[in-house]
Amino acid sequence: MLKGKNIILGVTGGIAAYKAADITSRLVKAGASVDVIMTKNAEHFITPNTFEALCHHKTLTDTFDRDHPWEVEHIALAEKADLVLIAPATADVIGKLANGIADDMLTTTMLACTCPKLIAPAMNTHMWENLIVQDNLKKLQHYGWTVIEPTSGHLACGTSGAGKLPDTADIVEYCDLEIGHEKDMKGLKVLVTAGPTQEAIDPVRFLTNHSSGKMGYAIARAAARRGAEVTLVSGPTALSCPIGVTGVSIVTAREMYEAVTSRQKEMDIIIKAAAVADYRPAVIAEDKIKKQDNASDMSIPLERTDDILQYLGEHKPDGQFLCGFSMETKDMLENSRRKLEKKNLDMIAANNVKVKGAGFQGDTNVLTLIGHDFEKELPLMTKDDAADALLDEIFRYKREN
Ligand code: CTP
Repeated sequence: MLKGKNIILGVTGGIAAYKAADITSRLVKAGASVDVIMTKNAEHFITPNTFEALCHHKTLTDTFDRDHPWEVEHIALAEKADLVLIAPATADVIGKLANGIADDMLTTTMLACTCPKLIAPAMNTHMWENLIVQDNLKKLQHYGWTVIEPTSGHLACGTSGAGKLPDTADIVEYCDLEIGHEKDMKGLKVLVTAGPTQEAIDPVRFLTNHSSGKMGYAIARAAARRGAEVTLVSGPTALSCPIGVTGVSIVTAREMYEAVTSRQKEMDIIIKAAAVADYRPAVIAEDKIKKQDNASDMSIPLERTDDILQYLGEHKPDGQFLCGFSMETKDMLENSRRKLEKKNLDMIAANNVKVKGAGFQGDTNVLTLIGHDFEKELPLMTKDDAADALLDEIFRYKREN
């Protein structure tokens, strides 16, 4: 996705500098042309040769180096850059950049860059929490920089807390999010639901289904990459919330109902990919239900949950696009069309779980997109591609209606 993009990677003097080699390698594999600029202190942790071997460009360290291909190197580099990433960023470089100090190749080049800029701080927890550092970061955000927040964990200084450089794959995902995709959904607010719900029977058991959440997460990720402001309301899954998406975790159908209906009015598009329980135990036993030695069967009285999509359809604001999902094992088209009408949807994405490559757990799906005056059968696709195809169809519809 970063094919043909020019990225300047700034590396500063912290222990996480060694991870910048992996970031370089991942960016190059994603198709980017990477120029690395190191501060003098970074050279205490990793050598320029490491980056040169990975990106095949000269690593820049010295503003006054005379052995370079351009006339005024920091300006030439700044002009061709599509993105700047500083990772890891020390408190020192954050302070310099926030205050316009340009005393080396990296800080000088940064002042000349007009492209999007990402900065990934990594340092000791107390340094990270220091109000001077936080104020400097706020200043950088004010000047248009995007701050990639550090994660928490065991730090090289021996303490535990916030200040760790995020996973290198996540950092590359931030770059992809920033410049890897056309931003045709900029300005749109999108709410996606995903995953199963869990309805407690007693303190140790619950009713649920096989939903992995993969389809809904793929849609949320695709919409964020296309520039939308995305909220993902998800039941329990093994997946992490995609980068750039606001996650809301719920467990029960009731909690999903609250989370979705309270946000409905502000959304331009709502896509309900979650597999919501239709029934829940009428009473949740306070203690674990014990088996009865002299009874060979048992039954649990169930009651209906709220149909969230039905509510959304009945209270749909003008101009909002509402898309449901329909999971069937037979009569897929008929049943799905019925749901489209009954729930007042603009589109329903139907899939038959019995078809090879479709359904809950896998990484592929076979969707048929159905609207009031259209029906589009998509071929077997990865869930990521199916997510983009679904968003394309929503766009086509919105354009023509
Ligand atoms: N849905 C919902 N709330 C529920 C049940 C379903 O919002 N209590 C939504 C799902 O998120 C999905 C759509 O309704 O977008 C269709 O779900 P599905 O389970 O296929 O159909 P149901 O309407 O539940 O009907 P049935 O189970 O009888 O097929």
